Amino acid sequence: MKFLTIQEAMDKEKGTVSVRGWVYRERKSNKYAFIVIRDHSNILQCVFTKEELPEKTWENAKRLLMESSVKITGDIKKDERAPSGYELQVKDLEVVQFAEPYPITKDFSPEFLLDKRHLWIRSRKITAVMKIRHTIVGAIHEFFRKRGYFEFDPPIFQPSQCEGGSTLFEVKYFNDKVYLSQSWQLYAEAAVFALGKIYDMSPTFRAEKSKTSRHLAEFWMAEMEAAWMQLDEVTEVAKDEVRFIIKEVLKHNKKDLEVLKRDIKILEHYAKEDYPTIKYAEALKIINEKYGMKVPFGKDLRTIEEAKISEHFGVPVVVTHYPTEIMGFYKPPSKENPEEALCFDMIAPEGYCEIVGGSERSLDVKNMGDRLKAQGEDPAAYEWYFDLRKFGSVPHSGYGLGVERVVAFICGLDNIKDAIPFPRTMLRKTP
Ligand code: 4AD
Ligand code: MG
Repeated sequence: MKFLTIQEAMDKEKGTVSVRGWVYRERKSNKYAFIVIRDHSNILQCVFTKEELPEKTWENAKRLLMESSVKITGDIKKDERAPSGYELQVKDLEVVQFAEPYPITKDFSPEFLLDKRHLWIRSRKITAVMKIRHTIVGAIHEFFRKRGYFEFDPPIFQPSQCEGGSTLFEVKYFNDKVYLSQSWQLYAEAAVFALGKIYDMSPTFRAEKSKTSRHLAEFWMAEMEAAWMQLDEVTEVAKDEVRFIIKEVLKHNKKDLEVLKRDIKILEHYAKEDYPTIKYAEALKIINEKYGMKVPFGKDLRTIEEAKISEHFGVPVVVTHYPTEIMGFYKPPSKENPEEALCFDMIAPEGYCEIVGGSERSLDVKNMGDRLKAQGEDPAAYEWYFDLRKFGSVPHSGYGLGVERVVAFICGLDNIKDAIPFPRTMLRKTP
């Protein structure tokens, strides 16, 4: 017997087909059983008619509970009233396993669904998100490979910090300790002297103590680094990348976006518009003058402020030249105004906030050493990194794109935890 996926069976439009899957919904009466089954491709209503079936088949159909696994043969036809527009008149049923009563029915709290994530992952919502995530990850590889970037994999055990000591995960390492990667960046800066333009996507770890809808303790960062590249160019790469990702999702995942009830029109708008670049100082002007806030120069932008900036523009916005004082040790002060750093964030609209962070890289060993010391770090641990500034140093830049932030934004999710199959946060490490 040849099994078709549910979508393939529906594409045939008529005739006898065999499909296999899991019971998604069941409704039974004395004469009929309406069993909706699902597989990865779609859902299909299967109608069991008592009078037309052997007694054993009818008895088995009556016993089916949600998530039972089944193989079904029958005649498929169009039916406007059926949930996916097709209906299968069942001729034969093989029950592979009768499921126990399913713990998830409806209207459960987000925490309960996270406790049952190993099962909830089968929901239409999470399945749709995972399919879109698949497209996004593929699009990132394609974007960089088409442009001549090499894939370069960094170590995940690292001896020192890149993005501040307060969010490091410490790991026992034989008789010593190391940290889980907060970013590939310092290693990428070594590799651009060999490969020129590189990218990667790898697991990234931050002991974020904040319980926001935007922070994970384990997430995937897609990063790029390029020799000779400066701020004005690297920001354009980031914009092109985000537009390309959105276009690919629109090309491959319309059905999944519909499952998620995501506004497709607005994504089409983001896929084709230009994204503005403004300086941090101009961003302050907008939030202070238009929105009546009082943010002084030198304060990092909080999510409510980022939300106002993106609301003002209605598309992703690149903000550059944040105050040097509050930026990482490797973000160089600009020559024109050393209080401003040659760095940028990309802020997504609809309150999704920062999705990309990047910068030019400082070439000034003394300045970086002083800033590390001011953070309580020992510059000696960065000797190897400072070597890169001594042997044919050239300007270079890079950025990191938060994969789950982009998944959440494109899917229109309320919480970043639904953008990754098994989320890890300060309060969640199971299942
Ligand atoms: O802005 P961040 O901290 O930049 C860096 O780590 C640079 N070293 C990257 C580089 O230049 N190569 O992080 C980059 C992006 C953020 O814009 C955000 O999208 C995401 O990573 N991100 C997180 N996503 C989920 N949970 C968290 N805790 C995140 N922290 C950062
Ligand atoms: Mg950042």
